[in-house]
Amino acid sequence: MKTNNESPSGSPAPRRRRPRYSGAHPKRFDQRYKELDPAAYPGIQGHVLAQGRTPAGTHVPVLVEEVLAALSPQPGDVVADCTIGYGGHALEFIQRIGPTGRLVGLDVDAAQLERTAARFAAITRPHDHSGSATTAVGQASVSLHRSHFAGLGKFLAREGIDGYDIIFADLGVSSMQIDDPSRGFSYKYDGPLDMRMDDRLPRTAADLLAQLSVDELSACFADLADEPHAERIAKCIVRLRAVKPISRTGQLVNLVFEAKGLSRREWRDRPTDQRGRLHPAARTFQALRMLINDEMAGLAQFLRIAPHCLCSGGRIGVISFHSGEDRLVDNAFRDGVQAGVYAAMVGAPIRPTPKEITANPRSRSAIFRWAVKAAG
Ligand SMILES: C[S@@+](CC[C@H](N)C(=O)[O-])C[C@H]1O[C@@H](n2cnc3c(N)ncnc32)[C@H](O)[C@@H]1O
Repeated sequence: MKTNNESPSGSPAPRRRRPRYSGAHPKRFDQRYKELDPAAYPGIQGHVLAQGRTPAGTHVPVLVEEVLAALSPQPGDVVADCTIGYGGHALEFIQRIGPTGRLVGLDVDAAQLERTAARFAAITRPHDHSGSATTAVGQASVSLHRSHFAGLGKFLAREGIDGYDIIFADLGVSSMQIDDPSRGFSYKYDGPLDMRMDDRLPRTAADLLAQLSVDELSACFADLADEPHAERIAKCIVRLRAVKPISRTGQLVNLVFEAKGLSRREWRDRPTDQRGRLHPAARTFQALRMLINDEMAGLAQFLRIAPHCLCSGGRIGVISFHSGEDRLVDNAFRDGVQAGVYAAMVGAPIRPTPKEITANPRSRSAIFRWAVKAAG
């Protein structure tokens, strides 16, 4: 049997090496992860997953069984995956809605859409993700659009659809966005402080750090991420930006350590239970990302519009990763049930099982809620 490392003629292909790095501890993203080069390292992705880590450059969808059980995609359904990302959930929907079904996929991130289009093309037929065209692909008809999810209504008329049977959103960032240092989402690797999911947005995180006052920065860290040292970090930012612009993720991480009076060594050497699960800069990064992408306002708008885009009996499901977002979702569904817009909603929030968290640690803060549109 041929392996991935063989040439078409059957003779072993010369082994390609990752770029050389100096020293024993590679810091650059492209040098550090073998799984970025699966052709040279066959089986590496399975190995990384078996260790309970997410292979760099991929995204493992969360709560898949729970989402499918609640939203119950049926043959012929029209599905809006409003945060298509790498298409993990979308592929599950496509398999179930079959050749008579339709999937409309939205994402604000052009790079994500491009990768997902390529991924779908490998298993289906190529399709248009630049405009409104819908192309029959493999089992189901799929169209991908670069759009904020609050714009999901406009694709109904554009694609001649009466309403969606399923609306689904999996909020936040994908692993591929986090793992790409050039996007600036990660406190693990140095990169430009960008953090825009949609690169058409006018301001980057570096711009915000240069412009906001101590009070505004402090409110951002406290309100969007419950950062206990919000004011200290805000003051440190304003003090340091007077000396030098804060434009790199590495600078921001150093600054958070300084504001918290911690050295990296102290943090690393603390016993795990004292260290807690979160990196000291995690909340600062999360808050900035949410602010720069206006995530709370965008979600509120989406939740207002979504029921008007659902068919009678249609199902909506949202996975959030943050208590503030989850509160918005819960309140919107409760208000909808009270107003008779929704006929039913989930009782207790649905969270990943310990088994899923072990297999995919990035799923640990996921919270899933669903609701069903009332008939008539
Ligand atoms: C957690 S990932 C989705 C992963 C996807 N479910 C999968 O299985 O691959 C979230 C995606 O939503 C996108 N996104 C975030 N906010 C958005 C918004 N307001 N409108 C559309 N897409 C958005 C991000 O760019 C990212 O690709």
